[in-house]
Amino acid sequence: MRTIKLGSSSLDVPVVAVGCMRMDALEKPEAERFVYTALDEGAHFFDHADIYGGGACEEIFADAIGMNSRVREQVILQSKCGIREGMFDFSKKHILASVDGILKRLKTEYLDVLLLHRPDSLMEPEEVAGAFDELERASKVRHFGVSDQHPRQIELLKTYVRQPLVANQLQLSITNATMITSGFNVNMENDAAVDRDGYILDYCRQHKITIQPWSPFQYGFFEGVFLDSDKFPELNAKIDELAEHYGVSNTTIVLAWLLRHPAKMQPVTGTMNVGRLKDCCKASEIHLSREEWYSVYLAAGNTLP
Ligand SMILES: NC(=O)c1ccc[n+]([C@@H]2O[C@H](COP(=O)([O-])OP(=O)(O)OC[C@H]3O[C@@H](n4cnc5c(N)ncnc54)[C@H](OP(=O)(O)O)[C@@H]3O)[C@@H](O)[C@H]2O)c1
Repeated sequence: MRTIKLGSSSLDVPVVAVGCMRMDALEKPEAERFVYTALDEGAHFFDHADIYGGGACEEIFADAIGMNSRVREQVILQSKCGIREGMFDFSKKHILASVDGILKRLKTEYLDVLLLHRPDSLMEPEEVAGAFDELERASKVRHFGVSDQHPRQIELLKTYVRQPLVANQLQLSITNATMITSGFNVNMENDAAVDRDGYILDYCRQHKITIQPWSPFQYGFFEGVFLDSDKFPELNAKIDELAEHYGVSNTTIVLAWLLRHPAKMQPVTGTMNVGRLKDCCKASEIHLSREEWYSVYLAAGNTLP
């Protein structure tokens, strides 16, 4: 598995991150097989959130991997906090309490990365800074980042937060690529020119923040998987053609498309199927050409100006 530096940090991370949001669908033996398959593939970066399965996903993961100090050294653990029932909450009190809950469920003394999950309009950046300082001082969190934030929100945080923000987890797939599309259609009158994210793609590149694309196989907001869907015939034909050319599965090509971008992204997979997980990891070995990358973008129904 290829690795990249996470943001401006010196932490080497596998280019494919294993998302654990759906882990509560697995029985213990299946979960064990899943996490140990990931480790065998070199995919030792696991993405969690305090809300996944209401906390159950973190517990299932810790049990499945048999968490102890020796195992802990072999994995990189990221989790997120800030989403509560009916609200978002980046208060110092909530962040600190959430991290304590996460550490307990993951059976660990520290997180490698903590992300703020979804922008909280009532956020006081001073409070976030206070929470991050306390978590860092207590050695509970080593690196910090955000999720689903646009550049102005990150800049606002940075007015108080001292620690570098190393990652921004954002929804991005071949069929949900508005951050790429707006960059092609600068100053044009068409809908594709609409900037929905403050040009987050270029901002993250410029500021060395690793983009972690979430839901890389979904279209819409969890509407379904575009692979093998009859809603995307042209796209699937193109992906299948490339899969045959490289002798890999269509799943591999989907992640290879994201990995081809020079922003050096770290996609977060969501599959709980060990075969598909292996296919995802294989993407680390495939380097699509410029022509192939553009042909997939166009086959998804996009046009170039
Ligand atoms: N920051 C955020 O706001 C945010 C939001 C959502 C998710 N996330 C993170 O991103 C991760 C991925 O999200 P996701 O689960 O929606 O992503 P995904 O990888 O796009 O979707 C995975 C789902 O698609 C199914 N699937 C069907 N065919 C597939 C194929 N050929 N290849 C891969 N999957 C296939 C999987 O089923 P099988 O299990 O049967 O393969 C699984 O149910 C989550 O685990 C979580 O860590 C973050």
